[in-house]
Amino acid sequence: MMQRVLLWGTIFSAVLAPLPVRGQAPAAKPAEEVYKNIVELKGTPADQVDPAMQFIAASLGVNCQFCHVQGKFEADDKGAKKTARQMMAMTAMINKTSFGGRQQITCNSCHNGSTRPAGIPAVQESDTPAHPAAMGAPAGGAQPSVDEILTKYVTALGGADAIGKVTSRAMKGQILVGGSGTPIEVYTKAPNMRVTITHNSEGDSYTAFDGKAGWMGSTGRPAREMNASSSAASSLDAEFSLALHLKEMYPQLRRGRPETVDGVVCDLVTGQAPGRQAVRLYFERESGLLLRMVRYADTPMGRLPTQIDYADYRDSGGAKVPFRWTLSRPNGRFTIQISEAKANVPIDDAKFARPSGDVK
Ligand code: HEC
Ligand code: HEC
Repeated sequence: MMQRVLLWGTIFSAVLAPLPVRGQAPAAKPAEEVYKNIVELKGTPADQVDPAMQFIAASLGVNCQFCHVQGKFEADDKGAKKTARQMMAMTAMINKTSFGGRQQITCNSCHNGSTRPAGIPAVQESDTPAHPAAMGAPAGGAQPSVDEILTKYVTALGGADAIGKVTSRAMKGQILVGGSGTPIEVYTKAPNMRVTITHNSEGDSYTAFDGKAGWMGSTGRPAREMNASSSAASSLDAEFSLALHLKEMYPQLRRGRPETVDGVVCDLVTGQAPGRQAVRLYFERESGLLLRMVRYADTPMGRLPTQIDYADYRDSGGAKVPFRWTLSRPNGRFTIQISEAKANVPIDDAKFARPSGDVK
């Protein structure tokens, strides 16, 4: 395990991975059988340790080294790690005694991105109030139903017939991270296969969903299967005609309060279903297009969000698709800009399959 943690490589595989970005332990085993020094996370599935750690690091706004010595994750030689253990017990206790065992309080409730929680409210630093009460409550009026929102979305993309006529896409573009671009290819095929290949200078890296499970890999290393929650995220991204399948995937979609995204009024739809990540979907009121999706990975410490902002919708084979999307997480973000998309090109299923040995 530790070996794989250290081997973990390029920045691109890091930002592309749904979560976690490192190696995984077998899901069935409890954490204490895979790791060396587990006290608070006893009984938690081993593959949940890494997402829990990412949640903690994001909540405190620190990296792993704040609590760990690199390569010696089991050691208790940093005071912060011992404090963190006490905090885990305290947080569980608050939820148990005050919230009926529901995970209402998390590390982030108090820490909110800082190692020192602020117990004292901030003063108003400028003439603009720090917490404008009116934010996020766009003008009233009749609100559309979930069905109306989804119908408008399908129409905005070109209609169900046009969407259904496209069954594959081969796309080329760039992944943009911190101002620099790297060539990328994205292949997608109905109903739910997808592979993204990033051409790094030192080799290629892959993030894929083969229709059943997600996998990742990079040149010269064994491809590895994603854990359940990463795979669930990846399956959502791989959904070829999300617009047509949303109701089937999330039988209990609900309407949320309208919100604004970058000043644009959006209708909000939320969904959750067993085995799927909970989602919040933001549809632009005027155009009907999906502007944002936030999906949530459950970790033992709380939910980790991934936000995807869609833009640059263009026609591809008779139906519209976003040519740009930005994926943001607590620990990073990247943008993919597609420059060329070919619809209905034949793509062999083998293209999406996880290689049995090293990735070429
Ligand atoms: C705020 C402190 C804190 C941060 C930051 C943190 N951890 Fe941890 N980590 C802990 C604590 C506490 C434990 C022990 C949990 C227990 O007792 O069950 C632990 C345990 C682990 C273990 C199990 C080690 C073993 O063999 O027992 C691994 C692996 C690990 N952390 C990885 C990470 C990674 C990777 C990161 C960065 C994403 C990270 N941690 C960030 C506090 C932290
Ligand atoms: C109810 C509020 C609350 C919650 C929930 C909470 N903390 Fe804290 N935490 C604090 C406060 C307050 C301090 C500062 C204590 C001090 O300054 O002595 C602190 C301090 C810490 C520190 C020490 C920071 C340093 O500078 O050394 C760590 C590490 C920490 N918390 C980790 C966590 C983790 C991990 C969780 C979630 C499992 C968590 N906390 C949940 C309130 C909270």
